[in-house]
Amino acid sequence: MFLRMIYDEKLAQAAYLIGCQRTGEAILIDPERDIDRYLELALREKLRITAVTETHIHADFLSGARELAEKTGAHLYLSAEGGPDWQYQWLNQKSTGGPYPHTLVRDSDTFRVGNIEFKVMHTPGHTPEHICFLVTDRGSGAADPMGIATGDFVFVGDVGRPDLLETAAGVQGAKEPSARALFDSIQRFNALPDYLQVWPAHGAGSACGKALGAVPQSTVGYEKRLNPAFRAGRDEEEFVRFILSGQPEPPLYFARMKRDNKSGRQSWAACPAPGASTPPNSGPSIPSAAPSWTPARGRPFAPATSRARCPSRSRARSTPTPDR
Ligand SMILES: [Fe+2]
Repeated sequence: MFLRMIYDEKLAQAAYLIGCQRTGEAILIDPERDIDRYLELALREKLRITAVTETHIHADFLSGARELAEKTGAHLYLSAEGGPDWQYQWLNQKSTGGPYPHTLVRDSDTFRVGNIEFKVMHTPGHTPEHICFLVTDRGSGAADPMGIATGDFVFVGDVGRPDLLETAAGVQGAKEPSARALFDSIQRFNALPDYLQVWPAHGAGSACGKALGAVPQSTVGYEKRLNPAFRAGRDEEEFVRFILSGQPEPPLYFARMKRDNKSGRQSWAACPAPGASTPPNSGPSIPSAAPSWTPARGRPFAPATSRARCPSRSRARSTPTPDR
């Protein structure tokens, strides 16, 4: 089994490429929309990305799940949990028509990528549809999981904040029920064996919690013992008070990202092809042997007119348009 964290320092965000080296198949968990880095890593490791998933509908970046499905034909495994308001709305809108190959998964469902088994665990709180994945390397003969991809449920030293639906997306009265749902999810996490590795989706600096640690991974046992949210989580009322206090102001763009990731931004493949472009007018031309306007490798460059026709070219850090 191959496992690699791909970390975006600027967002403190972690995606995971997990591959079966025997069959060459691999899955990406929680990819961002700039997918080149994942494709290059898979190529280097002689793996094919045949599956893509995410732990929840993200609020802090544009998801790459749809982009990877377009580019690689990978099978999507996405949460069916959380109720009707939290269902993915773009699964039947492939750029060439029809649905993406996909499976909607619920708590306790399992699926395989090569000889690696993924078991779904519904862990609401941060978001209603949030799921985690228990990963078992069946190819090596293991009958028990090695670790759990916890997404924005459990971080090193923190848990995913349950107030964002209310404070960022404007759903009045949502944060206390979400905090209680998170308390219940923590009780389920407490029942997991201590030896399991914890692979979280964020590190220090992320606005998805209030005090994330600067260590890339942990274990279930360590978090049970030393994570402040778990220590507060021994009593429900104390936990609700603890988790809803001291959370940082959510960035304004979170509401828009949430909406865009649920409804689905248009794939790059469906955007207008880049037209001929000229460099910005910078005065008298100076002869040079080097190309004067070369887009970054693998990044489609579009002139301003194309961008205006294709709103999906905005990125997470572009000008925010909050819902509220
Ligand atoms: Fe999140």
